[in-house]
Amino acid sequence: MARLRTAVLVSGRGSNMAALMEACADPAFPAEIVGVISNNRDAAALQTATDAGIPALHVEHRGRSREDFETELHDRLQDLEAGFLCNAGFMRILTAGFVDRWLDRHLNIHPSLLPAYKGLHVHERAIADGVRFSGCTVHFVRAEMDAGPIVVQAAVPVHGGDTADSLAARVLQAEHRIYPLALRWAGEGRLRVEGQRVVVDGAEDETAALLNPLR
Ligand code: GRF
Repeated sequence: MARLRTAVLVSGRGSNMAALMEACADPAFPAEIVGVISNNRDAAALQTATDAGIPALHVEHRGRSREDFETELHDRLQDLEAGFLCNAGFMRILTAGFVDRWLDRHLNIHPSLLPAYKGLHVHERAIADGVRFSGCTVHFVRAEMDAGPIVVQAAVPVHGGDTADSLAARVLQAEHRIYPLALRWAGEGRLRVEGQRVVVDGAEDETAALLNPLR
């Protein structure tokens, strides 16, 4: 079966992108990374992708309208013949027009158990609230930020002595496990969006989409 031609949108470090690349390095994996696009010329992710031999492109967002930026982004994605998108630390809000063109072919990862802690500074806020668990979420992208049907989540404990950095590091490890899993399911054609919910076809039971951690 043809592998899902996936482009990754990044703005910074790119550790989730690297986790996706590592999964896709296996020829048996049902998706491949055909390109990486950053709105930030200095993103470390661009160098990582280049070093791996993956086309890495910069699309500038400054000094132009959102629509203009997205038109170029869309053109580059067409050039790459991408059929699927993964946001991995991509720090731009996309318009409804762009989101609609990639509807249900576009994932994002967020470092909280959505719908809790949308937006920025999630770990500081979780610690300040004294929650005992945090985690991460892979979801389909919708025009509303950090909303959209949830594909998979992983929970991690919040310890008494945690700082935002120590919690972020624990959550990031879980991110690197669930994002490749979500992309694998997408590549296998197993994700069905029903309203606000995602059904994982062929999952033996529902715990497959609830890592806590199961593997
Ligand atoms: C991750 O925590 C991701 O969940 C959030 O931004 C961070 C990006 O990290 N959206 P990296 O660039 O993937 O290392």
